[in-house]
Amino acid sequence: MKLVIAGSRPLSGVVKVAGAKNAALKIMAASLLAGGVCRLSNVPRITDVDTMLGVLRGLGARVDVRPDGSTMSIDPSGVDRCEPPEELVKEMRASIQVMGPLLARLGYVRARQPGGCNIGPRPIDLHLKGFAALGAKITEERGYVSVRAEKLKGAEILLDIPSVGATENIMMAACLAEGTTVIRNAAREPEIVDQQNFLNRLGARIRGAGTDTIRIEGVKSLGATDYAVIPDRIEAGTFMVACAMTGGVARIENVIVEHVQALIAKLREAGAEVVEGDSYVVVRGPRRLRAVSIRTLPYPGFPTDMQPQFVAAMSVACGTSIVTETIFPNRFRYTEELRRMGANVRVEGRVAIVQGVMALSGAHVEAPDLRGGAALILGALVSEGTTEIAGVHHVDRGYEDLPGKLVKLGAAIERVTASERQVG
Ligand code: UD1
Repeated sequence: MKLVIAGSRPLSGVVKVAGAKNAALKIMAASLLAGGVCRLSNVPRITDVDTMLGVLRGLGARVDVRPDGSTMSIDPSGVDRCEPPEELVKEMRASIQVMGPLLARLGYVRARQPGGCNIGPRPIDLHLKGFAALGAKITEERGYVSVRAEKLKGAEILLDIPSVGATENIMMAACLAEGTTVIRNAAREPEIVDQQNFLNRLGARIRGAGTDTIRIEGVKSLGATDYAVIPDRIEAGTFMVACAMTGGVARIENVIVEHVQALIAKLREAGAEVVEGDSYVVVRGPRRLRAVSIRTLPYPGFPTDMQPQFVAAMSVACGTSIVTETIFPNRFRYTEELRRMGANVRVEGRVAIVQGVMALSGAHVEAPDLRGGAALILGALVSEGTTEIAGVHHVDRGYEDLPGKLVKLGAAIERVTASERQVG
């Protein structure tokens, strides 16, 4: 499957953002703790959600996805397996978010250590340190990790770095622990607040998500709830950047404006006009953006998940932009492909120096990962000629039909299979 994109058209129109991938995946995992059937809505239709459904089924949960694809029910009463399917853990790192709930529910969990991935090594040592602090015994051998605890006990946990995944995994495990757990230097991402809200609707007693100190008072058991996942701030951000860099004007709906402030500030600094509504933003791009520098940081700083798309925008901006990646060391692989499209990007360690050019030019490129793939699509929108992008499955992991939504905004994008392309 490839995308064929004819560039040089400004985007315009209205687009609606789907539910947040990084909230939905964790809330699906958290459903394993429920004492009954949970109904989730505003779940994005993306392949990572399909993978998480596979993980839940593999553990013995009953899941039922409604025809609309974005509503599902999860019944964890039959969960009796304590090892998430190995091939799915390999495929998607977020599968390890079932470790906390399984540990709390079954007292034991075993999983393959997720290896390095395309954006760099991503260890789970902080997740494990947290489980150990709650009284679990950890054994690691030949690529597998086993975590066992007869009874988890509340504890004070200071995270060495504010890891999103570790904060969530520990928060889930601590819900059913005896006594109170305090997570300090916790990550503050909005998706963690969403998970807290979901768990509290089940009857958990969690306070402080969204700040760097989260307090979890353990309870004996949890109930069930219906819950709507928050909108995806990274999808929203991707459309905002796409619109700004093509010199278009678009209204992006289903946005929690507070969640995209870092991006709004940078887009304004770069010369775009952004109007903030109650649940939407309107972005109007200038003829050409000005170069601005960014540094990725934990929330509420500039999100690492928007770094590649922003570099794509800066590659056609006026001037030189310095982009510093502080979260994932190896997140510049896509810049090699952008360079094939004529971008002038030099990477030195954690820094990319982007010298804006007037336009990119169509080329054959390959998406190396999810957000890198989105950056290439945005680059193709401002390219002269036609760009072919392979590796689109990476993009489908985390965006609900990004090409289709861009087409509705006026982009010229076709999905073709490799054989169709040979004929055409
Ligand atoms: C989540 C998001 C991802 C986003 C990232 C940072 C999901 C499914 N993914 O990933 O899209 O880019 O937050 O906002 O929600 N680290 C350790 N030890 C650990 C855990 C993490 O050293 O045990 C390091 C990582 O290698 C990385 C940094 O901490 O350098 C941040 O990672 P973390 O916040 O955990 O990201 P994820 O939860 O994996």
